[in-house]
Amino acid sequence: MTATLIDGKALAAKVREEVAADVATIGRLGLATVLVGDDPASHVYINNKHKAATAAGIEARDIRLPESTTQEELLDLVAELNADDTVDGILVQLPLPSHIDEPAVIAAVDPAKDVDGFHPVNAGLLYLGTPRLVPGTPLGVMRMLDEYEIPLEGARAVVVGRSSIVGKPMAHLLLQRNATVTICHSRTRDLAAHALEADVLVAAVGRLHVIRAEMVKPGATVIDVGMNRTEDGLFGDVDPAATERAAYMTPVPGGVGPMTIAMLLQNTVAAARARRAPTIASSQN
Ligand code: GUN
Repeated sequence: MTATLIDGKALAAKVREEVAADVATIGRLGLATVLVGDDPASHVYINNKHKAATAAGIEARDIRLPESTTQEELLDLVAELNADDTVDGILVQLPLPSHIDEPAVIAAVDPAKDVDGFHPVNAGLLYLGTPRLVPGTPLGVMRMLDEYEIPLEGARAVVVGRSSIVGKPMAHLLLQRNATVTICHSRTRDLAAHALEADVLVAAVGRLHVIRAEMVKPGATVIDVGMNRTEDGLFGDVDPAATERAAYMTPVPGGVGPMTIAMLLQNTVAAARARRAPTIASSQN
């Protein structure tokens, strides 16, 4: 068997078109991003987010602060953006410099503007099965699974990785769709035995080719969230030889990666709609 490749690049382009159409109907829509410090990868991510937001017609405000920014200054800025009615979405790029308390900053963002879906309120709503704003990467994976009509009801899903950004929200989204979900992590005994059971296998650990071909159940759907930069280029967490066993598989690059930014834009639309909804309701009174 050779897997059908799940084309994240094409699907992300489609989502971005949908977002642009939504933006045109909503009107003015604002996204503020905050980047603290000099991390080169973060600068590239933020540049890409801005390009995509602007292309979709979103007014993107690009705030870049020096490494020396204090926690108080950052919290003041977040409070200002929370209060700014022209801002629908706020994204504070992670990681933050080590002298800043990251959870405190995440918790300071207005949950209604938290387009990353990282705020404890949004994480809690997802846990309770009533999601509002959901992190972009797992949301993008769900969109890919739906686009390729991968059955989830009653399926065995194995998520490898338990980060708050990908693994945990991914597991909850799959659970909500009635998959039987296992979360594996660095202390899991016999990862191969778990992985081999998976109808849907999501690898999100950030370790080059940690999922070997023989760990994939024949006919499985394999989603590779890994982005491991090496001298030879960008590689995933799954050995590409797994395409010989999987029925569907995401490539790296061109799989999950492009979906993350597309879903950030979709979240910005969702936040804007939710923020405007009470106004529409009250104007009808
Ligand atoms: N750093 C790595 N991924 C992300 C993300 O999705 N959002 C933010 N804010 N920071 C990140």
